[in-house]
Amino acid sequence: MTDERKAPHVVLAYSGGLDTSVAIPWIREHYGSAVTALTVDVGQEGELRGALERARENGARDARLVDAKREFATEFLVPAIQANALYQGVYPLSTALARPLIARTLSAVAEEVGADAVAHGCTGKGNDQVRFDVAVHTLSPQLRVIAPVREWNMNREDEIRYAEAHRLKIRVTAQSPYSVDENLWGRSIEGGVLEDPSRAAPEEVYDWTSHPGDWPREPETVRVRFERGIPVAIQDEPMEIVPLIRAMNRIAGAHGVGRIDHIEDRVVGIKSRETYECPGAIALLEAHRSLESLVLPRDLLSFKSGVDRRFADLVYEGLWFSPLREALQAFITSTQEVVTGTVTLRLHQGSARAVGRESEYSLLAHELATYGTQSRFPQELAVGFIHLYGLPNQLAHARARAARAAPAEDVGAARAVLPTA
Ligand code: ARG
Repeated sequence: MTDERKAPHVVLAYSGGLDTSVAIPWIREHYGSAVTALTVDVGQEGELRGALERARENGARDARLVDAKREFATEFLVPAIQANALYQGVYPLSTALARPLIARTLSAVAEEVGADAVAHGCTGKGNDQVRFDVAVHTLSPQLRVIAPVREWNMNREDEIRYAEAHRLKIRVTAQSPYSVDENLWGRSIEGGVLEDPSRAAPEEVYDWTSHPGDWPREPETVRVRFERGIPVAIQDEPMEIVPLIRAMNRIAGAHGVGRIDHIEDRVVGIKSRETYECPGAIALLEAHRSLESLVLPRDLLSFKSGVDRRFADLVYEGLWFSPLREALQAFITSTQEVVTGTVTLRLHQGSARAVGRESEYSLLAHELATYGTQSRFPQELAVGFIHLYGLPNQLAHARARAARAAPAEDVGAARAVLPTA
């Protein structure tokens, strides 16, 4: 190998798994580059320090760990909660939300160390390559993006042979047929038998949610407090956002909440079967949605649901760093001023349902809604309201009926019939 100090320098998004471990010597061989391995801690489990040690042993010039959990929660997850963000109505975007942050960290470290390229371990078939590449091109257009897995055409067996030939230190885990990505917001499991959408996911793929046989028979009640659309307390105990999400993952996971089995449409045009477990996300999103329904007026709720969906699509499609995402988020933030209050969730047998909500900004006025004797709703005015409300339909219906009855040549006949008050 040539003198690496003069060679180009690549910052690799490194997880410690097989792909990105093999990528270290592969990049050195194929690009003659020095490699800095970068692990961004977004709340994935596993021993990140040990992985850094192995990166150095496997030939990285440097290996770094950046703790980005708080940034992840405040800059990415909070907006996602406020946007009730679920791609195709079911996926809380756990992987999709972390990619722009990892890409931003890659760009920053690359600029700091004077690297001329970044690298990631994505295949050429998924959304993640799109998210990484687009984000890096946007933030640091001078950086090249290298994607070894997209280029090298090795299968898993080839990679293991390559690792053996290069005497790489790989963490010997029991041969898992699954590809897993995880962070604070959830866990994605792909591959193996999961690729057959006709078959139920085997229990072994789940890690954060307990097995149906272990779900508690009795429901559990959890109170979640929000301030301006941000979850701030569980069971009336104030918590920082990162521990709060962790706590919710644990509490909801015990009841099997947040298992998702989804036929998903990827950006690159592929349909795929995706399996997730996102217990905390599903519980918090349900609580937030329910609180919004109490404090936001009907027209705003309706309009916002369209904005929310567009926001979720943008995140999924890798367009986090875009003017449209920023503008949608500004709108969403402006709606959250009154999203303060407490929601009671009932967790039971795989589901999280809001069963109570209260807020000082509640728009539910008991004296209007009640059927009891204290009602102050002027029912007598309802008659006049209903008459005017239905008038356009009444007229249109009468015209249509007349038009059907009239002989084809007598167009004017339709005008003869007017609705009577
Ligand atoms: N299909 C999901 C998404 O696009 C999950 C991707 C999981 N990525 C992974 N490298 N295993 O967000």
